[in-house]
Amino acid sequence: MTDPRALAWPPAPIKTERLVLRESEARDRAAVIELNASPEVGTYLGGPRPRAELERTVPEVPGQRPGFFVVELDGATIGTIQLDPHDPSPSGNRRLEAGETELGYLFLPEAWGYGYATEACSAALDWFAGALHDEPVVLYTQTANARSMRLAAKLGFTELERFEAYDAEQWFGVWSSVTPPA
Ligand SMILES: CC(C)(COP(=O)(O)OP(=O)(O)OC[C@H]1O[C@@H](n2cnc3c(N)ncnc32)[C@H](O)[C@@H]1OP(=O)(O)O)[C@@H](O)C(=O)NCCC(=O)NCCS
Repeated sequence: MTDPRALAWPPAPIKTERLVLRESEARDRAAVIELNASPEVGTYLGGPRPRAELERTVPEVPGQRPGFFVVELDGATIGTIQLDPHDPSPSGNRRLEAGETELGYLFLPEAWGYGYATEACSAALDWFAGALHDEPVVLYTQTANARSMRLAAKLGFTELERFEAYDAEQWFGVWSSVTPPA
């Protein structure tokens, strides 16, 4: 699929205090399979996917698209961040208008609880704001996903609405690097 956004890709690797964000490579394939097969990671994302299916279908270099970052800690892949074109389904005008880019994040459970997701997502959002001139970013997460809800708040997402979908309450929020006038 061609990306409708004028996103210059890939950027130079982004270094934070503890992490590196970079485009994916063949060596990330095992971690991408693990992220999608992990029951813990999949708890609020419709469940894990069968490992055998992932082994068959994940490309040799996974996630080759603008906005797909691999997050590395001391040379090991610990998660991925996606800044994908916004899919406003289930549809809603407000959600359609809120922004054209949607943030997603998946981290391996052993990397939870150290602030890595906050550190990496903040850096990815800063990069995005610079790359696309302060366009807003939207985020969906289940309200039952307490870690994700805390992360969204720390990153500065604000709630636009809650709605029911996939038999659960969903949270829809927006982030902008531009502070609205007081
Ligand atoms: C959502 C997800 C990325 C959050 O991971 P996380 O590690 O909890 O997120 P953070 O990076 O914000 O880490 C925060 C925790 O690290 C702790 N921490 C430890 N050292 C820290 C430091 N140096 N700096 C900041 N926080 C630190 C914080 O106190 C906090 O702990 P708490 O959860 O007990 O309050 C992770 O749970 C995940 O990958 N889930 C599965 C995928 C998913 O559901 N994605 C959502 C849909 S897009």
